[in-house]
Amino acid sequence: GRVLLAYSGGLDTSCILAWLIEQGYEVMCYMANVGQEEDFDAAVVKAKGCGATKVFVEDLQREFVEELIYPAVQANTIYEGVYLLGTSLARPVIARRQMEIAARENCQYVSHGCTGKGNDQVRFELAYYALKPDIKVIAPWRVPEFYERFQGRKDLLAYASEKNIPVVQTAAKPWSTDENLFHISYEAGILEDPDVTPPKDMWKLTVDPEDAPNTPERITIEFAQGKPTKVINTTHGNKEVTGGLEIFLYLNQLARQNGIGRLDIVENRFIGIKSRGCYETPAGTILRVAHMDLEGLTLDRQVRNLRDQFVTPQYSNVLYNGQYFSPEAEFLLASIAASQKTVNGEVRLKLYKGNVIVEGRSSKTNNLYDMEESSMDVHGGFSPIDSEGFIKIQSIRLKKWGLNQKLV
Ligand code: ARG
Ligand code: SIN
Repeated sequence: GRVLLAYSGGLDTSCILAWLIEQGYEVMCYMANVGQEEDFDAAVVKAKGCGATKVFVEDLQREFVEELIYPAVQANTIYEGVYLLGTSLARPVIARRQMEIAARENCQYVSHGCTGKGNDQVRFELAYYALKPDIKVIAPWRVPEFYERFQGRKDLLAYASEKNIPVVQTAAKPWSTDENLFHISYEAGILEDPDVTPPKDMWKLTVDPEDAPNTPERITIEFAQGKPTKVINTTHGNKEVTGGLEIFLYLNQLARQNGIGRLDIVENRFIGIKSRGCYETPAGTILRVAHMDLEGLTLDRQVRNLRDQFVTPQYSNVLYNGQYFSPEAEFLLASIAASQKTVNGEVRLKLYKGNVIVEGRSSKTNNLYDMEESSMDVHGGFSPIDSEGFIKIQSIRLKKWGLNQKLV
């Protein structure tokens, strides 16, 4: 049989590649470029050296930003109140291209290097089966002959030297990471003790807020239907950036310099195990603040209420739990788009030492805020006497409740 292996260039997937060949499979390798720091050319050479018959490197950055990240910004998705879902968001685009290539190259099997305890195995495989129901999955970290033979890094290193797999000489970091253009995650190793503070040199996408510039940087972000369409840097010569991917990468750069987007949490994985993770989500943190602010000005109260109660938590779970290719995701995405029709306008922000501070917002087309109506100084067409009746009626049932409570 022929296998398409999701290959990272690292020790684990290189050993998996050699092991699959040893089991008698023909193996092709697939690498997704989702904006991670990676020497793809070196990885291609390495995969071929290990015996891969073909290696595919696919640039998925633009579809990642436009199809996955921006709808998540529109929906203010967040998991357990903190995690911005950076790994979850990349999995659908990675899995989709893997299935396209598997179909084109007649691979009956696909394989990946995810562990048997994590979320990613679930995300990849649910996506695989939804996209190509006849695909067969080989998950070596769940195959006894594999995981009993390779108990730890020592066994992998011994196998690598036996198979002449080059191992990068730099000492392995005492944690594991997953990086893409939206975020980087740090888990496992020394981070497994949830009370161990991550060392300062772990963080790689942002400067320490303590070392960020002492002067703030001010930007304006323009949105159309809840998606960013332009960034203007009012501190640096009104520099303008447009284009979905370009805006995102520019905000990453600004957030990075100003120490924005670090997190350290204990989360609940889909399979029920708790996990301590640290994350850096630079641009995603800025966009979340800006987008939520603009909704205050432009989004109807009841649409917001329904969206916040239902769509945001459900779509966040869909992403986290790997159910992006599903009927419920289709349904939720349609309602996200519908909710954002009025979210047009701009938000002015100050970036300063890890903080994203809103300084003002406006909308030429969808401003629902009426200065006269809201003013404390003028009536603006509102008659205060109406509030009298409003409170009376609202209080009817509370008076009944109060009678029995005897609170005072
Ligand atoms: N805990 C995060 C999540 O489930 C990050 C997972 C990182 N994955 C990895 N293969 N290192 O989304
Ligand atoms: C892994 O198991 O591959 C990483 C952790 C996760 O998927 O949650």
